[in-house]
Amino acid sequence: MMGEAMFKSIRDEIDAMMARDPAARSRIEVVVCYPGFQALLFHRLAHGLWRGGWRLLGRLVSQLGRGATGIEIHPAVVIGKRLFIDHGMGVVIGETSEIGDGVTLYQGVTLGGVAPSVDSHNQRNTKRHPTLEDGVIVGSGAQVLGPITVGRNARIGANAVVTKDVPSGVTVVGIPARAVQSREQPKQAEPRFVAYGTPIGDLSDPIARSIDGLLDEVQTLRARVNRIEQRSVGGALDVEDGTVERGREGEGREASDPPQGKC
Ligand SMILES: CC(C)(COP(=O)(O)OP(=O)(O)OC[C@H]1O[C@@H](n2cnc3c(N)ncnc32)[C@H](O)[C@@H]1OP(=O)(O)O)[C@@H](O)C(=O)NCCC(=O)NCCS
Repeated sequence: MMGEAMFKSIRDEIDAMMARDPAARSRIEVVVCYPGFQALLFHRLAHGLWRGGWRLLGRLVSQLGRGATGIEIHPAVVIGKRLFIDHGMGVVIGETSEIGDGVTLYQGVTLGGVAPSVDSHNQRNTKRHPTLEDGVIVGSGAQVLGPITVGRNARIGANAVVTKDVPSGVTVVGIPARAVQSREQPKQAEPRFVAYGTPIGDLSDPIARSIDGLLDEVQTLRARVNRIEQRSVGGALDVEDGTVERGREGEGREASDPPQGKC
C-alpha cells in the first residue's frame, strides 16, 4: 500500500516534469536523463535519514546526489510536491530553504544565505535561506538570498539577485531584482505554467511606465502652454481663474521665453 503511494507520487513528479519541459518525450527519458528527477530521489532519501537523526549519513547521501547530478540540496531542506529542477547543474539549495508545490528551478540557481561566512556561529540553527511558495519559477543563474519569501506563482528572471520578499504573482528581474508586471492582467485566476518562465502577457518595467506617464504629462502641458501663448497673441489671455487682458503681444514675457507658438 505504501509502495503504491510512493510509486504514484513518483509518477506524478515525472508527469509534472514532462508538463513543464517541451523537450521531454517520455517518462523513461525523464527517469534516466533528467538530473533534476534523480536529485529529488537522492533528496527524499537524504531528508528521511536527516529527520531520523542520521545527520551525517543524510549529508553523505546528499553529497552522493551532488556528485551524480551537479545539484546540491541540503538534506534538511523541506520540499513540496512536483519540484522540477530543469538541467540542474550548479543548483545549490541551502539548509533552511523551504520549497512549496509545483516550483521550477533552472540551472545555476542558488537559494542561499546573505553572508554565511560572517559570524557563522550565531547564524547556526536560524532561518537564513529563502522560502519559495507554490508555483514559483526561478530563472537560470538567479541568486535568491536570505530568509525572504517569494510569493505564490512569482517569477524570478534569469541572473537576478533577489534579497527582498517578492509578492505573489510578481515577476522580478535584474540586480538588485525589481518588479516587472503585465500590462494586461491575466484572465485566469491561476496562471498556467509557462515553460522557461516566459510570460503570456505584455510586460513592462513599472519605472519605465512611470517615465512614460511623465512624458505624456509633459506633452499635455506643452500643448496647453502653446494654446495659451497662441491666444495671448490676440491680446487676451484666458486663464482658469478668469480673463486677463494684455495690452500688446508678448507683454509680461521674460526675454528668455521661447518665441510664441513654439516650445
Ligand atoms: C523574467 C522573464 C520571465 C520575463 O520574460 P519576458 O516576457 O521575456 O519579459 P520582457 O522582455 O517583456 O521583460 C520586461 C523587461 O524586463 C527585461 N528582462 C526580462 N528578463 C530579464 C532578465 N532576466 N534580466 C534583466 N532584465 C530582464 C526585459 O528586457 C524588458 O525590459 P525593457 O522593457 O526595458 O525592454 C524572463 O525574461 C526570464 O528571465 N525567464 C527565465 C528563463 C530561463 O531561466 N531560462 C532558462 C532555460 S534553460
